[in-house]
Amino acid sequence: MADPASLYLHVPYCVAKCPYCDFNSIAGRDGEFSAYVDALLTEVRRLPRGPYRTLFLGGGTPTILPAPLLARLLAGVRDHIRLADDYEWTCEANPGTVDADRFAALADHGVNRLSLGIQSTHDHHLKFLGRVHDARQAEAAVARAVATFPRVSADLIMGLPNQTDAELAADLALYRRHGLRHASVYHLTYEPGTEFHARRQKGELTDIDPKTSRQRFERLWAELDALGLHLYETSNFAVPGQESRHNLAYWRRQDYHAAGAGAVSTVAGVRRTRLKHSGQYIAAITRGEAAIASDENLTSRDLLAETWMLGLRLVEGVRIADLGADDPARWRPRAEALITAGMLEEADGHLRLTRDGRPVQDEATIYLMPG
Ligand SMILES: C[S@@+](CC[C@H](N)C(=O)[O-])C[C@H]1O[C@@H](n2cnc3c(N)ncnc32)[C@H](O)[C@@H]1O
Ligand code: SF4
Repeated sequence: MADPASLYLHVPYCVAKCPYCDFNSIAGRDGEFSAYVDALLTEVRRLPRGPYRTLFLGGGTPTILPAPLLARLLAGVRDHIRLADDYEWTCEANPGTVDADRFAALADHGVNRLSLGIQSTHDHHLKFLGRVHDARQAEAAVARAVATFPRVSADLIMGLPNQTDAELAADLALYRRHGLRHASVYHLTYEPGTEFHARRQKGELTDIDPKTSRQRFERLWAELDALGLHLYETSNFAVPGQESRHNLAYWRRQDYHAAGAGAVSTVAGVRRTRLKHSGQYIAAITRGEAAIASDENLTSRDLLAETWMLGLRLVEGVRIADLGADDPARWRPRAEALITAGMLEEADGHLRLTRDGRPVQDEATIYLMPG
């Protein structure tokens, strides 16, 4: 396997915890920011120096850090690692935490891609989602991002209770208004342990009907296509060449390093998960320990299952050469059955879902994966 050339850095803090979110994120620990940055840099200094082709500073909300601290973090990362010539460095941001100083700190230290969590352009939905920003702030954040970074993406959420077709269409207009070349549109999921999940259990919130959801996705797909933003992964759309290189590396099952609380790396068949709790992470790293919550040796079967699962998310599909360890006598007849049914196609050494196969992605994946 080629040298790992991707690095994920995690900042777990947020201004407020959104009621739908099960990311490793926490609000109200601002007093810890400086110690966390020190610990994160200590862990970064233990990593190979690279060069790295993709970096992703995610969260949480990395832009919650005040500009000088953000600058210290980025400068510390740059001191230790080397960036490849064509590197991509993404930072996630929340429109409630962006200002000129923070953006300048990011851009000055080499961040060249910003991913903004917009979620909706409607104040009543933003309020429902517990967001700390309103639609006007979201709009201003996108405008400022476009003026600062060469590449900008915006996240939206569909499938919200009472969300109308017209509202979703108005949300999509954001991409046109700002000429964005990357879009992530996630379907709302009710993750166990979140406030929304508990409210759904109580019957206060209900899923939208799957048929409506599918029709809406079809429309969204066509509307983004018309803007030149083409689906390249289950929830991600881009102008060709503007895809998230970091996420592509992940979906193509390439190795990636990581640092930070709860961060997960996969290098040479070992999946390492770091301590999730920020306080425990800081304490362990400061004691000189590795802050490991678990190390899992991935079996060849695990790796194959992931190759199928992640590859079928991609419009380009699964690279047949990556299935080397899977016996074609096992998967080939199944693949042929799906090809005959018009759900799957084989081209350019890949197996990919067709447009008709996309709505049954989960079922097709389970059918093809080793049992
Ligand atoms: C780490 S957040 C992005 C940055 C920042 N924390 C924010 O929320 O603005 C990653 C993205 O995941 C999506 N997301 C998180 N939980 C979700 C859920 N339960 N259903 C759908 N999308 C979700 C949101 O679109 C969010 O922008
Ligand atoms: S701001 Fe982002 S990471 Fe933080 S709780 Fe909300 S969705 Fe999760």
